[in-house]
Amino acid sequence: MDLEKLLTDRLAPAFTAVAGVPVDPVVRRSQRADFQSDAALALARRLGRPPRAIATEVLARAELGDLCSAAEVSGPGFINLAVAERTLGGLVSALATDPRLGVPVSPAPETVVVDYSAPNVAKEMHVGHLRSTVIGDAAARLLEWLGHRVVRANHLGDWGTPFGMLIEHLVDLGEAEATHELSMGDLDSFYKTARAKFDADEAFRERSRLRVVSLQGGDETTLRLWRLLVEQSERYFLTVYDLLDVTLTDRDFHGESSYNDLLGPVVAELDRLGLLRESDGAACVFPPGSVGRDGEPLPLIVRKSDGGYGYPATDLAAIRHRTGELSATRLLYVVGLPQRRHFEMVYAVVEQAGWLTPPARAEHVGFGSILGPDGRMLRSRAGESVKLVGLLEEAVARATALTRNRNPELGDAEAAEVGRAVGIGAIKYADLSNDRQRDYVLDWERMLSLDGNTAPYLQYAYSRIRSIFRRAGVAARPDASVSLAEPAERALAFELVGFGAVVAQVERSLEFHHLAAYLHRLATAFSAFYERCPVLRAEEPVRGSRLVLCDLTARVLRQGLHLLGIRTPERM
Ligand code: ARG
Repeated sequence: MDLEKLLTDRLAPAFTAVAGVPVDPVVRRSQRADFQSDAALALARRLGRPPRAIATEVLARAELGDLCSAAEVSGPGFINLAVAERTLGGLVSALATDPRLGVPVSPAPETVVVDYSAPNVAKEMHVGHLRSTVIGDAAARLLEWLGHRVVRANHLGDWGTPFGMLIEHLVDLGEAEATHELSMGDLDSFYKTARAKFDADEAFRERSRLRVVSLQGGDETTLRLWRLLVEQSERYFLTVYDLLDVTLTDRDFHGESSYNDLLGPVVAELDRLGLLRESDGAACVFPPGSVGRDGEPLPLIVRKSDGGYGYPATDLAAIRHRTGELSATRLLYVVGLPQRRHFEMVYAVVEQAGWLTPPARAEHVGFGSILGPDGRMLRSRAGESVKLVGLLEEAVARATALTRNRNPELGDAEAAEVGRAVGIGAIKYADLSNDRQRDYVLDWERMLSLDGNTAPYLQYAYSRIRSIFRRAGVAARPDASVSLAEPAERALAFELVGFGAVVAQVERSLEFHHLAAYLHRLATAFSAFYERCPVLRAEEPVRGSRLVLCDLTARVLRQGLHLLGIRTPERM
């Protein structure tokens, strides 16, 4: 299916025969030919021969006749390959009848745990949780489509010392009032008021401390109040997920508290393995390779000096559960880059303890921050962190207004639906089209623009193709013969057959900006094709062939956007 791979497989044996050792021909798309290999240049020094001579000999040995219409040495020793029209047309035809669009199901499906979203109970979700939710959901969708068993783990922050003050504040407010506040999504004010009382009021502080003790001791009344906080928050988070159109459900909450019973055994096991050291009354592991700025070894604190367990202990227990009970072999943590050190240490400890052994591995799918227009961390006008729901609602409102302007013929219901798809799509795409390790600036104008590497541009390209079919009242015949005489047709065909390779690369790297860039290239190639090549006005069999290209482009755009969690309205 994948042309780069087909050509690589033909050139590799020839290179190997010439060099006497295995050589990667490094076949790439090129401006000068369809594909180019520059491996002869790299080999020249090693073999002590001129690169052109090497390239010529490779071409003499390589079997390319059935794939290429031309294969020649150029410049200092490049190999230029022109793909035969029949080869390319054949690949497009095969795609057209393939419901998976050239993306095979994984031959080695794994159980993958995707740890993502993970907001904290009774605390507003912030933009960091937005990134985690958007990236994690794309990962879950893509891996599932490839046939992996995906476990969505929403590692809710639902345990720890703050619950003392949160429960006491709930008691002060009364259950009815507290429930109302939380269910309205007033999480920020709830948390902040509790915090303010804790900081200002000694008696409240003392009550909070005692409350933590009752909570950890399993006191029934306290647990009931704690559950109330958790349930109300979960209910609120589900409304955000619904608005954000992500696949997380109420069954995916696996909060920190769900590992409570495993924490004791985890520490006991670490002790038995001789990995525990005491440091200032706390039980610690000093993973190899973890040193602070001063060169001193850094501890991972698994049990605090007051006997309590914190964030690191829970993550150790969760890994044990994920590789043990769930038999997962790939553990993904979609969490901001500031937590990189934490995860490095946790992974080092579970490797030492033998709870994470190959083929099982853990990956921190880290990401940068969302910045405001001023290039600093995104803040509201009042200087507070931006409320996520507000952001999403603004996106939908702006997109709905733009949609109405552009297309006054849409009815209210459809305009609202399109506005939602475009607004949420724009937010997600702005995130996923940027290298996730980098920070990016939230720019409304840009992300909602119909031009450029944006969701609306891709959604518009999709709806435009659908309208071709609607207008003509035709459907593409996937078995129509494909001809690619025009350069714009060829260019589009090359993009179409490249979908599989991109998805395979993102499966490994979880760098969704490669998929985004691909979809943008595809839509751009389609535009150029559509400008130069009449479709409905063409004569058969060209018309049928072009309809296949249109239909395939729409299907790849739709599937690609779907993997990113973005909807594709039929009209915009
Ligand atoms: N609740 C944490 C936070 O808001 C994120 C948890 C990430 N997942 C994990 N397994 N540690 O920062």
